[in-house]
Amino acid sequence: MPQRPHPVGTGTDADWWRQAVVYQVYPRSFADADGDGIGDIRGVTSRLPYLAELGVDAVWLSPFYPSELADGGYDVADYRDVDPRLGTLDDFHAMVTEADRLGLKIVVDIVPNHSSHQHVWFQEALAAGPGSAARERYVFREGRGEQGELPPTDWPSSFGGPAWTRVPDGQWYLHLYAPEQPDFNWDNPEVREDFHTTLRFWSDRGVAGFRVDVAHGLAKDLAEPLRDLGEAQSYQPDELPDDGSHPLWDRDAVHDIYRGWRRVFDEYEPPRFAVAEAWVRSSRRAPYASADELGQAFNFDFLNTPLEAGAMRDTIDSALAHARDAGATSTWVLSNHDVVRHPSRYALPTGATKSDVEAWLMTDGQEPSPDGELGLRKARAATLLMLALPGSAYVYQGEELGLPEVADLRTEDLQDPIWVRSGGRVKGRDGCRVPLPWTREGASHGFGSGGSWLPQPAGWGSYAADIQAGDKDSVLELYREALHLRRDLVTDETLEWADTTPGVAERGLVHFTRSGGWHVLSNLSDESVPLPQGTVLLASNPLPEGELPAWTTVWMRNQA
Ligand code: GLC
Repeated sequence: MPQRPHPVGTGTDADWWRQAVVYQVYPRSFADADGDGIGDIRGVTSRLPYLAELGVDAVWLSPFYPSELADGGYDVADYRDVDPRLGTLDDFHAMVTEADRLGLKIVVDIVPNHSSHQHVWFQEALAAGPGSAARERYVFREGRGEQGELPPTDWPSSFGGPAWTRVPDGQWYLHLYAPEQPDFNWDNPEVREDFHTTLRFWSDRGVAGFRVDVAHGLAKDLAEPLRDLGEAQSYQPDELPDDGSHPLWDRDAVHDIYRGWRRVFDEYEPPRFAVAEAWVRSSRRAPYASADELGQAFNFDFLNTPLEAGAMRDTIDSALAHARDAGATSTWVLSNHDVVRHPSRYALPTGATKSDVEAWLMTDGQEPSPDGELGLRKARAATLLMLALPGSAYVYQGEELGLPEVADLRTEDLQDPIWVRSGGRVKGRDGCRVPLPWTREGASHGFGSGGSWLPQPAGWGSYAADIQAGDKDSVLELYREALHLRRDLVTDETLEWADTTPGVAERGLVHFTRSGGWHVLSNLSDESVPLPQGTVLLASNPLPEGELPAWTTVWMRNQA
């Protein structure tokens, strides 16, 4: 058994995650204790009491490792350290200790598909030259064309442009994301072993689980000759083959890697938990989430489903079924660090697609003109729907404040590599990463004394946590109440549709019961409907007598 120098933070319950609420912290934008304009680990620690009071069970930290921030920290230069700008391993220990005191678990992000080009292994690979063992840890190949001047294949990077970059000695290396993010070669046992070491390193430091970045990308078909994609250039889950035959994504061999990780997780008591970020067809999600692999997988269908009753019911049904197949629980996500915040998505005309949302960002959020009030009302209804579902809810920092997307960041302030890699056609994800407003007044609205690495917009203070606290109509108090109620209400993992009469979805209603004597009714329509008899536990908006107004969700006690 490995040593556990800091045996705090992980509790004793092996199933804690099954219906947990996990709060995602994007560390650089959360709270800045040392006033350098970048959020840090001590900042997180200082705000843990706020998170405990909010009522979440665990905190997932996006990467805080040493990184040159070519992709917001998802370019990791050292997997077993803290970025000096964000703190030290001692600060990390203090955070885990404080979290433990408050009954919160810590989950960390692990980025196994690629490292930073500054990682010591990649630097060694560059220095060692073609044919070396150091190059075998990554994916280096000769180019095509007479002088090798063409990339080895036609594979695109997910951020735009080719997935290959040439080095001075003429070879090319693979990066499915930015050139600063070279992909590892997972056929190499040294790579596998090193990640086991990393998983143990953090598990030994009181980490309860891992969020696995790009979990579907590790096992590539690297047999010669490499296969071109031809017409099939899209990496969208629904456009991937359903039999694991894509050369890059969701290959069956990836599961062998996670069975190895499971053996590491099971060295601990309780076993460490993991959740896969796997952008795969939903029918192929279950293995990632199975008990002999990672344990849980993100379900992004919920986030991508328009707020329409029929579509929502179908998505919920299928997510629950896929989770059941895996022996896991489902996850529910409305916002994260990669997508436009949900109050802003819902402020756009119904049916806006991902590319409509991207186009809207390109107009600085002007065209089409968003209906912010309606967006927030829908967001509140969607949140209460999400928090009533069986499984784990993942809440992204600031959504409990009802923050909108900052759609009008100036292009010179953008940091997301997508902006440059797309040739200025896609604005990217900075608008959901603007540092949080903690206080209405004061420097950076309480984020820190030294400004903020992305500018906070005018009016940001009106969303501040300090003015929402205690205001019963605020988004913050809605989250607090829902999360506290949920603790007592959630007794098992089942859901039953309450109203299955034909036409119920067409009328915009989602209605289900949960064990423990409560039921949930969402009115996802523009018309108000009669409120069933019974005691209201919580409503996403005020209820006129006997009515469930448009775009409102209510939690009710069953009638005796
Ligand atoms: C994941 C992360 C995203 C990052 C990408 C590459 O999708 O969530 O932020 O850019 O992986 O690591």
